[in-house]
Amino acid sequence: MEARVQGCVTCHGQSGQGTSNGYFPRIAGKPAGYLYNQLVAFRDGTRRYPPMNYLVAYLPDAYLKEIADHFARQRPPFAAREDAGADAATLARGKALVTAGDPQKGIPACIACHGEGLTGMNPGIPGLVGLRPSYIAAQLTRWRVGDRHAADPDCMKRIAVRLSEIDVNAVGAWLGQQDPPRDPSPESSNLVRMPLACGSQR
Ligand code: HEC
Ligand code: HEC
Repeated sequence: MEARVQGCVTCHGQSGQGTSNGYFPRIAGKPAGYLYNQLVAFRDGTRRYPPMNYLVAYLPDAYLKEIADHFARQRPPFAAREDAGADAATLARGKALVTAGDPQKGIPACIACHGEGLTGMNPGIPGLVGLRPSYIAAQLTRWRVGDRHAADPDCMKRIAVRLSEIDVNAVGAWLGQQDPPRDPSPESSNLVRMPLACGSQR
């Protein structure tokens, strides 16, 4: 496996912890089901980032599954936090959205699905800790404009289209400032707590 993932580590770090490039995401410790879904999406071209599409093109499901399981097991330390230089009002908005949502705009709290400690939920919801503001904002924007899709019903699509550009930057800035959790393991599945149904969480 170490040999198999050598092509990945220049961008994702030796154990999937990420690198200094703010756009290359941490993948270590995310639920195996989530990582697998992303690898399949890159292979099949439903999620687009040309270097990733190219690397996993033609790889069989079983091979992708083993890679996903490998990175899901890793628990490397977190990189230093990134201060996006956001003002107090922006950070307050970000915190409110993540922890309480915005009922008036129909936005549920992110923690309802991404976990109290933002470490994700098995099998299909990724942790949001250890991700950089630029990466988070880019992914939410992709959902808003229809460039990133998940299995139907695509709950993240429904949420992202309700976020303004200011909201997107606010959640990214606040999330990027949080201390790493003591235990980065995803929570166990809890369908009852989820405010919307998600096709990737079955
Ligand atoms: C050239 C740099 C680069 C290489 C090499 C690379 N990746 Fe990526 N990877 C990225 C970037 C950038 C993204 C985010 C793409 C996006 O959606 O915009 C990503 C996304 C991912 C994701 C989804 C992460 C998430 O949280 O949604 C997984 C899983 C992943 N890569 C695994 C791998 C594996 C496994 C390999 C080796 C076979 C690999 N990557 C090689 C840059 C790279
Ligand atoms: C109803 C459950 C639910 C809620 C609430 C929710 N999410 Fe998600 N989120 C998901 C699922 C499921 C995925 C994985 C989708 C996939 O398979 O690609 C996801 C993925 C993401 C990703 C991609 C992470 C990565 O590594 O690429 C980001 C960023 C994200 N959510 C941000 C948010 C934010 C910010 C909020 C609050 C405003 C939020 N989510 C609320 C279910 C939810």
